Parts: sequence; structure tokens; C-alpha cells
Amino acid sequence: MDTLLLKYKTVKEAEVKVWFKAAPVSAFPKDGGACVKYKDLQIAVFNFSRLDKWYACQNLSPEKQEMVLSRGMLGDHKGIPKIACPLHKKTFSLETGENLNADLAPIAVYPIKIEAENVYIGFSE
Ligand code: FES
Repeated sequence: MDTLLLKYKTVKEAEVKVWFKAAPVSAFPKDGGACVKYKDLQIAVFNFSRLDKWYACQNLSPEKQEMVLSRGMLGDHKGIPKIACPLHKKTFSLETGENLNADLAPIAVYPIKIEAENVYIGFSE
């Protein structure tokens, strides 16, 4: 597997060692995404305001390895919140990272929390 993809690994809430303060809530469009940098990672952060939820995942689309997922389209797949890559519309669960409409590898997803109007992403290192 490409080394760029290997940098991204799903972090479970129990594994969080660092809550990285990404930006104020107001920096993220409603029902849209934005890209945040943490070390050498690009993380797509989504303000899914229709569901009143926030999600974070790798910005890298695993198919063509472009940093594009933050510009994707939010949606719903049988009750699972998903992001569709803007390039070829492959979709991924924002909860587990699973590819929902093809057999691509899952994307990495990260814990996210809002505190005092700021967005924090959880990392294990
Ligand atoms: S590059 Fe993302 S679906 Fe093809």
C-alpha cells in the first residue's frame, strides 16, 4: 500500500492522547467540510448540522490519492452518515470509514468534540 495512505489510521475515542484544537466552530460551513492540518496529516472536518453532528476523516481519497474528501458531498446511506468523494463519487461511512459503494479500503476516521465553540480532533500521537 502507498506510504501516504499508511499515515492515516482510524483513532478510537479510547485511544486519544491528544485533543488537537482545530478551529472555532464558525470556521466550518454548515452541512459542509473543511480541511485541517495536524503534523503532516490532512484531516477533513465536517459540520453535519442537519444531523447536529461533527465528523473527521482523512482528506485523502484512497482511490486516486487526492486530497479532496473535505470538498465532498455529505449524505445518508440507509441511516449511515456518509461522504461522497467529489472525484468519482465513491462514498464512505463517516462513522466507521467503510467504503459503501465499492470495494476500496476504508478511510481513517477520528474522534471529534466541540468545547467552548471550538472544534477538537482526537489523535493517538
Ligand atoms: S478519487 Fe475519490 S472516488 Fe475516485
